[in-house]
Amino acid sequence: IPSKPVHPTEATTRASTGPQIIGISSKGYDIVEENGFTHVNGILIANKTYSLPASYNPGGLFSSCISAFNEMKAAASAEGLDLYISSGFRSYAVQDSLYKRYCSRDSKAAADRYSARPGYSEHQTGLAIDLNTITYSFADTPEGKWVEENCWQYGFILRYPQDKEQQTGYRYEPWHIRYVGKEVAADIFSSGLCLEEYLGITSAYQ
Ligand code: DAL
Ligand code: ZN
Repeated sequence: IPSKPVHPTEATTRASTGPQIIGISSKGYDIVEENGFTHVNGILIANKTYSLPASYNPGGLFSSCISAFNEMKAAASAEGLDLYISSGFRSYAVQDSLYKRYCSRDSKAAADRYSARPGYSEHQTGLAIDLNTITYSFADTPEGKWVEENCWQYGFILRYPQDKEQQTGYRYEPWHIRYVGKEVAADIFSSGLCLEEYLGITSAYQ
């Protein structure tokens, strides 16, 4: 992967108006930071290591993500399956109140395994969707099975697969999909890796 050299003096003295390479992933990708956003291989990252600016609010799902969902929904519907969005875009403020609620209900340690802290949720990107019932049993429904096998064809990945908590930082979420585009989604699906493994990045609070 060709990387644009960054002069140490430039990187340290210039205001962060341009992209800065802050590291190289274990898979050899540049980890690029710009104005508080982190991209790896062109993919916007929101996980426990790489947060989003609190002020970032796209106001809803991106049209690319909505179009991809509609295409997937139509394909599922043609097979007699019903897919719907239960939670799409969530602002920093909404995530803050959700996370606090889960912490008081379950303890902070338990909440951290399934709910992102404000600023760390992929829902704040406008590129993530929770489908249908948001229950573990969704995985056993025809819809849940279909999504796991087919969402890549529409540009989505299952973001928190089973047995990947060490890598993603979160428990299995059969309902949470992330839009990455068809090419990358196909590549990730065939790899059998979660996004963090595929890119060679971590997901852990500092
Ligand atoms: N449930 C996912 C990890 C979130 O809160 O963004
Ligand atoms: Zn989700």
